[in-house]
Amino acid sequence: MSQAKKVTGIHVKGIGKYVPEMVATNEDFAKIVDTSDEWITQRTGIKTRHITNGEPTYYLGAKAAKAAIADAGISPEDIDLIITATVTPDFFTPSTACLIQREIGAVGSMAIDINCACTGFDYGIDMARRYLLAEDGVDTVLLIAAEELSKFTDYTDRSSCILFGDGSAAFVLERKKDTLYSSYLGADGTGAKFLVSRAMRSENAFRTNKEEFDMDMPATKAHYFTQDGKEVYKFATRTLPIAVEKACEKAGIAPEDLDAIVPHQANVRIIETAAKNLGVSMDKMVVYIDRYGNTSSASIPIAFCDAVAEGRIRRGDKVCLVGFGGGLTYAGIVFEY
Ligand code: COA
Repeated sequence: MSQAKKVTGIHVKGIGKYVPEMVATNEDFAKIVDTSDEWITQRTGIKTRHITNGEPTYYLGAKAAKAAIADAGISPEDIDLIITATVTPDFFTPSTACLIQREIGAVGSMAIDINCACTGFDYGIDMARRYLLAEDGVDTVLLIAAEELSKFTDYTDRSSCILFGDGSAAFVLERKKDTLYSSYLGADGTGAKFLVSRAMRSENAFRTNKEEFDMDMPATKAHYFTQDGKEVYKFATRTLPIAVEKACEKAGIAPEDLDAIVPHQANVRIIETAAKNLGVSMDKMVVYIDRYGNTSSASIPIAFCDAVAEGRIRRGDKVCLVGFGGGLTYAGIVFEY
């Protein structure tokens, strides 16, 4: 057993999740693209995913935020900072965090969105902890991951549309002294082209130059998501174990000391390979991809919420939240729940 370092970290005071009511099964996808329940289950581990019936991202986020606030036993006015991780905002401006603030009545809080794709919740925890560490007026942070991936999913592309679901989850975070905490975050922009959803190109009134400046990015159908599945798969299986190991090393513990690892839920085969490379059993890996598919930044906290509800993660447990995704980005956060 290694010696855990004690630092000023985070206290997770409350958690909450929300997924839309509508569910799409693998059989439903077999009706719209050339696929089968057998292929999707074997290649990804996904059986169902929740999909919005028009509810926007901020609505999902506000629902999860309200659940986390109730669980924490605080009132919305107690929140000093709202951080929302999303790659599927409803507007360029206002931010999703501002819309959620309005919905929940967190009067007087700061509000900011971050875009780190599927790694967003880990980056958000790291950012929250740094605000809390400063002891400069931010004592309570509401961190939300909210994604309506169905709005950038190309439902004619069978290799990607079967992967994604919509949903949201939130944590209320406070400062905690003398506790286990470490973060290991990274990015590799040379892999930017492997996971892409395009924003607007400039068509300003004075433009005459029709040349595109993003020559190394793939052509996409409008804003629809496109990926190089094999490259992402290789990146994920390589970086996931590294992020866990590095975060554990910084915290002064070994991966086997962890009670639970909550990985980004992209593909069960990625998680199985990572567990093997880490030398930990699959019992330690929290996996609910069969229920929700890949919900990008929301996948880690949604899985965390289900693991707590089912007693798989308890107060005092040492947990690692490990993400990888667009950017490319990767991250591991170790803390005591
Ligand atoms: N149903 C049936 N067949 C499908 C299919 C589907 N939904 N999607 C692809 N196929 C076919 C392909 O066309 C290919 O057919 P071919 O051999 O005749 O050309 C065959 O299945 C194998 O395709 P391949 O792309 O090699 O499958 P794969 O085992 O690599 O699985 C992914 C594809 C996308 C599931 C996998 O690469 C993956 O999960 N990558 C990571 C993606 C990811 O996690 N993205 C988000 C990161 S945050």
